[in-house]
This record gives sequence, structure tokens and C-alpha cells, in this order.
Amino acid sequence: MNYPLQQWIYIKRPQGRVGKQHYKLVESEFSPVLSANEVLVEAKYISVDPYMRIQQAEKNNWEQPHPLNTLQGAATVSEVLESNHSDFVVGDYVLGYTGWQTHAKVHGSDIEKLDPKKHDITTALGVLGMPGRTAWFGLMEVGKPRAGDIVVVSGAAGAVGSLVTQFAIRNGCKVIALAGSKEKCEWLTSLGVYQALNYKDYSDAASLAIQLEKLGGVDVYFDNVGGMITDAVLSVLNLRARVVICGQISQYDGGLDSPELAPRFLHQMLYKRASIQGVLARDYTHRMDEMIKHVGPWVEAGEIEFKTSIVQGFEQLPDALASLFGSNNMGKAMVKI
Ligand SMILES: NC(=O)c1ccc[n+]([C@@H]2O[C@H](COP(=O)([O-])OP(=O)(O)OC[C@H]3O[C@@H](n4cnc5c(N)ncnc54)[C@H](OP(=O)(O)O)[C@@H]3O)[C@@H](O)[C@H]2O)c1
Repeated sequence: MNYPLQQWIYIKRPQGRVGKQHYKLVESEFSPVLSANEVLVEAKYISVDPYMRIQQAEKNNWEQPHPLNTLQGAATVSEVLESNHSDFVVGDYVLGYTGWQTHAKVHGSDIEKLDPKKHDITTALGVLGMPGRTAWFGLMEVGKPRAGDIVVVSGAAGAVGSLVTQFAIRNGCKVIALAGSKEKCEWLTSLGVYQALNYKDYSDAASLAIQLEKLGGVDVYFDNVGGMITDAVLSVLNLRARVVICGQISQYDGGLDSPELAPRFLHQMLYKRASIQGVLARDYTHRMDEMIKHVGPWVEAGEIEFKTSIVQGFEQLPDALASLFGSNNMGKAMVKI
């Protein structure tokens, strides 16, 4: 059988904001022949994630830069079109890592079957996927929240941040949610946060720090953003605060190759006997079931709000990735094919 295959090939390292100019759209005919245990899938939703921009930076200090002239890697939710594997039949929906392409031939061991009757298939890229795992283990295991703690979440209306916010509230914490628009702050307020602050209303770290101090300081800081917000938060930590470094999105837009200089804050950690720890989703992949055991029933009961910012059309993938570095999205961003 012939399929019209479309692929976005990553061809050029961005210096600033990533965009279409760093990709090439390639169209071809795809006539796959399946070997034993292989499956042919067609992408329905393709993820765009901030980590893609980290991988594009030459000196990202994390892993090898994403190779040029290769398919952009990405998590996908796809439909099975052909199957040579006993666990998958035509019409199944699966989670995989098939990248920015419309069709892929994959081994059955590299995909996971989804149950659309139980959960909307998009949740596999968000609340019940990698962002949910990051939020759950980052907050619960690294942040160690206690009832009554003040938990500051940056990027609070995003895929990870909106879940951290809700997990912390469920844990009896007072959440100060930081986000970049009035609309986002209104949503966060409706979720029951103690205070939602638009960080763009503060001209510098000092003025944001004054506001945070007035609200009681910071017991747990779940950092998705870095930059000015982090400068403010670290100056108003409470005794034995826990700082969870999940992301630094304010620095990804080219900044990783030449890091922005910041105040030397380590003395603040000393006075407050605070701790700081990075968290990576991949370290918890083997504990996915544990997260789903906790969070799945809340999703089924409608007790967790998870928004999706869905852009329509395969051609939109580079622009959708770029949009993460602005303020337009709420919740998990993805492209519907
Ligand atoms: N450690 C891990 O394993 C792991 C896993 C997943 C994600 N992450 C990290 O967690 C963070 C959030 O990821 P996500 O997938 O949930 O994406 P996300 O929060 O939905 O990311 C998009 C949002 O980031 C905010 N943002 C973008 N540029 C900014 C800037 N210069 N200053 C302040 N805010 C900015 C914007 O919200 P505003 O309108 O509020 O500015 C934007 O809507 C990212 O840093 C990501 O790298 C880490």
C-alpha cells in the first residue's frame, strides 16, 4: 500500500527563536513492508515541547545536539493502519516517539496502546504523559510539599506548571502561580490558587520579590522558567525551602549557547538551609504507572483541569514549536494532523 508521507527535517541550528527557516518539509511516497512485530502508524497528534529547543542548542550540556538533516524527534499519538504484531490491530491508538512525520513504521515494543474509552487520547501527551510525570514526581518527590507550604510555580499555566499547581493545591499547599497574561492568571485563580501573579507586571526581580515576601515567602519553588523570576524567588526563600529546577524556558531562545548572567544567589541558600535539585522526566519513566494510579482517577472524575492548545495542520509544526516561547498557549501544546 502507498501512503503520502510528509516529514519535517531539522536543517539549521537557530541562533534565537526557532521557526520554519530551520526546517525543510519533505514529501514522498511511502510503501512500507512490515517485518515481524512491526506496525504502521499514522500520526493524529504530534507534540511540540520546550526540550526540543534545548536539544537544538550547540552547547546544551544535556545531551548530544539534535543532529542536522534528520527528522525532528517528537512524541506522537497515532492510529494503527497495518499491523504485524499480535498486540495491535488496525484502528488502535498508540503513543510513540515517531517524530514530525505523518506515517511511520515502528516496532511494537516502541509503542504503547491507549484506551480512548477511558481517557481522551491527547492526555497521553499531557496530563497522563511526560508532562504529568514531570509535574507529579518533581513536586511530590523533589519539592516534598507539606500542607500549608507556600509553593511558587513559574510557568504555572503551562503543561507542567498547571498540573504542579493543582497537585500542590490538592496537597493542602498555598500556591502562588506566576504566568504571563491576565487570562492565564484568571484561569489559575479559578483553580483555587492563593495568588496568581502576572510576572510581566513587575519591572524587575526586586519588585517581584517584595510582592512574594508580602505573601509569606517561599517554601517550595517549582521552576519552569528561570531568569528574572528565579532571581526574585531565591531572595525570599523561607527556612529549609526546596527549589525544584524543572525548566528554564526563558533561557532557551538562543540563550543556552551564551548563558545570561544572574546574581550570585548561593548565599541565600546558605542562610535558609535550602536545597536545590534538578528533575528530569526520563528518570521516572519506569514509574509511569505509579503516577497514573494517583492522577488517572482524578482525570476520570474531572477533578483535574488540563487545557490543550491544539493547532490544526502538519504544516504548522515549526510555528507551533516557536509559539511555546511566546505567551499564547495554555496547557499542553500539540498539533492535530
Ligand atoms: N525536567 C523535565 O524533565 C521537563 C519535562 C517537561 C518540561 N520541562 C520544562 O518545564 C517547562 C515547562 O514546559 P511545558 O512543556 O509545560 O511548556 P509550557 O509551560 O506550556 O511552555 C510554554 C510557556 O512558557 C512560558 N514562557 C515562554 N517563554 C518565557 C519567558 N521568556 N519567560 C517566562 N515564561 C516564558 C509561556 O507562558 P507565560 O505566558 O506564562 O510566559 C509559554 O506559554 C519548560 O522549561 C520545559 O523545558 C522539563
